[in-house]
Amino acid sequence: MNASDKRSLILPAAAFLVGLLALVTAIFIVVGPGERSGGGGIGGAFTLVSQSGNKVSDKDFAGTPFLVFFGFTHCPDVCPTTLYETSEVLRALGNNADKLKVAFITVDPERDTPEALKNYLGSFDPRIVGLTGSQEEIDRVTRAYRAYYRKVPLKDGSYTMDHTALVYLMDKRGNFVGSFNVKRTPQEAAKELTRYL
Ligand code: NI
Repeated sequence: MNASDKRSLILPAAAFLVGLLALVTAIFIVVGPGERSGGGGIGGAFTLVSQSGNKVSDKDFAGTPFLVFFGFTHCPDVCPTTLYETSEVLRALGNNADKLKVAFITVDPERDTPEALKNYLGSFDPRIVGLTGSQEEIDRVTRAYRAYYRKVPLKDGSYTMDHTALVYLMDKRGNFVGSFNVKRTPQEAAKELTRYL
């Protein structure tokens, strides 16, 4: 094979690669980052109990976008901060807040009974649904959301929980849109949410 033969092969190969790159870019633009993560398998079925003692399942969230995050009422910092920030976002949404649901799912069902959740959530927006259940039910929902949690013993004999601090934004079909940023002004966060209502 001489040099000109090699060139005649390189050109079509280069054209093919450019075409492939264009195709991949086009797919990315059409599908978009939200849809891609929606296919990531985050979220799913659950049946839990609310702070009012009512049975609540994923079906109660169908047709409504929702924010969901995991925590526990003895949490020293992250959970109360997130609950406060989320309450501020709901306030900033005004009437639109009725088109959104918010769930706080405990990773500490041992201490977080419906009554404990009710007392704790009394300091935050009343539209936030606190959810608890059996250890098996909590394990199932955390697996579905790929949330991490771990019991950490303390010196005084009690314990605390390590847990995923992510706020999940789920769309009307229950697909994961992405991690929702509450570390900004409630107005900015509310503005982003209105796109999904
Ligand atoms: Ni926490």
